[in-house]
Amino acid sequence: MPASGLFITFEGMDGSGKTTQMRRLAARLRAMGRTVLETAEPGGTPIGAKIRRILLDGANQELCPTAELLLYFASRAQNVDEWILPALGRGEVVLADRFTDSSLVYQGYGRGLGAENVMALDRIACRGLQPHLTLLVDIDAETSLARAHARNQAETSSETRMDEQSLEFHREVYRAYHELAAREPERVKLVNGRAGMDEIEAAIWRLVSPNV
Ligand code: TYD
Repeated sequence: MPASGLFITFEGMDGSGKTTQMRRLAARLRAMGRTVLETAEPGGTPIGAKIRRILLDGANQELCPTAELLLYFASRAQNVDEWILPALGRGEVVLADRFTDSSLVYQGYGRGLGAENVMALDRIACRGLQPHLTLLVDIDAETSLARAHARNQAETSSETRMDEQSLEFHREVYRAYHELAAREPERVKLVNGRAGMDEIEAAIWRLVSPNV
């Protein structure tokens, strides 16, 4: 594990509110004097942002599941090398909006590509880097789809490709997230995403504060 940095990832279904919570946590940590790198996947680095456009463009309906998986990991490899490992090496706190767990549940289980294949790519792209703590902001598949659709309409977003997947796909993602939390209870902590934003923030702080 690199130097003295702290690596925390946020996971959850679309519309779980994890992005807002990550910003709030970053603000708290900075107020304490910590240096914080905020990153997101797919995206993060400028090269990752270009990969993100391919992945989430609703026009790319023919993108095959294997290409999708490799693109998520291409974005992640760039993020790990260019931003995450150097920041951890400098002793900073790194907050990531999604990481390998997203590929595991969406591509490994949702798309049925298999957990072993996903973890093989993780070994190449992340080279042993694992989050110290993963905050799983938990909402069910129905709530997720309803919130994602509402957001897409409000923003007339073109990033709709993943949100257009079926309810069945999102239920499988939900199930896989819970299986992961049960398998790795030390690292993956469930936070109730249906609570109010302030309540969720407080719950997250209770989990993070012993580590900082
Ligand atoms: P994100 O930008 O986090 O969207 P949201 O704020 O709606 O959660 O993620 C975009 C989509 O990409 C989301 O539907 C989940 C999906 N995704 C994967 O399928 N695999 C991955 O490895 C990652 C990082 C994201």
